[in-house]
Amino acid sequence: MLLQGCPSGTPPETVDAAAEPHRPVFHFTPEKMWMNDPNGMVYFEGEYHLFYQYYPDSTVWGPMHWGHAVSADLLHWQHLPVALYPDSLGLIFSGSAVVDWNNTSGFGENGRPPLVAIFTQHSMEGEKAGRVDFQNQSIAYSNDKGRHWTKYSGNPVIPNPGIRDFRDPKVIWHEASKQWVMVFAAQNHVQIWGSPDLKNWKHLSDFGREWGSHGGVWECPDLFPLTVEGSAEQKWVLLLSINPGAPNGGSGTQYFTGQFDGRQFTLDERFAAGVRNEQAVWLDYGRDNYAGVTWSDIPEDDGRRIFLGWMSNWDYARDVPTVLWRSAMTLPRVLRLRDTPAGPRLYAAPVAETELLRAKTAAIKPLASGNEADLSAITGNAVVCKEIAVDFEWNADTPGAAFGLELFNGKGERLTFGYDPAARQLFIDRRQSGKVAFSPKFPSRDTAPYQPAENRLRLHAFIDRASIELFVDDGACVMTDIFFPTEDFTGLRLFSGSAGVVSGNVRELKMPSGN
Ligand code: FRU
Repeated sequence: MLLQGCPSGTPPETVDAAAEPHRPVFHFTPEKMWMNDPNGMVYFEGEYHLFYQYYPDSTVWGPMHWGHAVSADLLHWQHLPVALYPDSLGLIFSGSAVVDWNNTSGFGENGRPPLVAIFTQHSMEGEKAGRVDFQNQSIAYSNDKGRHWTKYSGNPVIPNPGIRDFRDPKVIWHEASKQWVMVFAAQNHVQIWGSPDLKNWKHLSDFGREWGSHGGVWECPDLFPLTVEGSAEQKWVLLLSINPGAPNGGSGTQYFTGQFDGRQFTLDERFAAGVRNEQAVWLDYGRDNYAGVTWSDIPEDDGRRIFLGWMSNWDYARDVPTVLWRSAMTLPRVLRLRDTPAGPRLYAAPVAETELLRAKTAAIKPLASGNEADLSAITGNAVVCKEIAVDFEWNADTPGAAFGLELFNGKGERLTFGYDPAARQLFIDRRQSGKVAFSPKFPSRDTAPYQPAENRLRLHAFIDRASIELFVDDGACVMTDIFFPTEDFTGLRLFSGSAGVVSGNVRELKMPSGN
């Protein structure tokens, strides 16, 4: 049986299902070959489009294309042919897509709005020749719901002025200033540009040289407004991926909140106080949520800001032990903005569609501190796809032993996650989770600083064979980690440490039949 990864990048012609033990059930994966960042996410005429960094000839990173899939419900994905191929201007790196509702670009036909994709072209020749200006921003358009794309003859629309890392454009329509606004990463800052027609662009401002974390190169920004929950106030959020420099190592995504006036992004004052001196606020403290951005053109009557990230880390993405394909996306998540004592903060939760996965629910009985409970049989079978929610409560004066849950198998492999009240840290420990030796950077116990307002806390986890997404207290803190047991984790153990378990449930998750 083939259980090894393919470092060579060439998967075997035929692979039986048993050789794909880590293929998730309800997370997006390419059918085969290499995938990294989500790109061009746009909603149009009943379809969520997901494009992604794709190399169709290998399971390791190579000349980038845009792969493509569509979904009506963010759960079932239909794979479509490659959308964008490299050309004489270069490979197709990360970027975004918009619906040009008013046909400002003139690309539309027969009174229907075109889809316009905005992306970086990376010239391998330029890079090899030792130039610095080998990344440029280009556009392409489609008049058939993203099935076929035509590159604009005037590409690149933003030529490189001599900055080595100059990439990952995200475009939005800014209604107040009635223009398209593009934000992209330029080494150690983001640049903001404006355009009336998606073809002609003007540099408006820069942000970030002196803010946030600079432990690595800046990549994949996103800029969008959110209403502060419980108020009518709108603030702007700037997502910014950085590699390396994440809190638990390698790739991670930080964010900023503030104002955007159509020209410049300025930090919220209270937020700024916390991000001086290389401090950052992170979207996700796990190792495996990178290069995530949000969907464009979600209808107003829906109103959600839906995020999706790449569930891997450049520290070891090329080495993970899957055979036919490499890497999955996170669950689509709704981002909300809340005012907290520390300033405005993002909260994340899986999209409500995820509830359609719930197949069977079993309640967890209350458990006093210092106990363990084997929940393996709780949903009646050996499911490897689970949603687990548990409420813990503890005594303020005696913060003691950690509490949480453990997934395990018959081989003694395990994945442990929970909260350590003495250290005030959430944690996911995958050091004994099975195949960990494929990269020295993979085995890790990842932590997130966290202090709940009261001495109680909810752990809410989604397990899909080879990944955990842990949403704590309504999404105030999130951790995403991948893992690769040599045999699926079918066991589940609860340990109450210094806390008591108040209530909880375990749900078996299954793909609902659908389109
Ligand atoms: C982020 C990234 C982007 C780039 C793409 C190349 O993971 O490095 O900056 O556009 O991947 O595949």
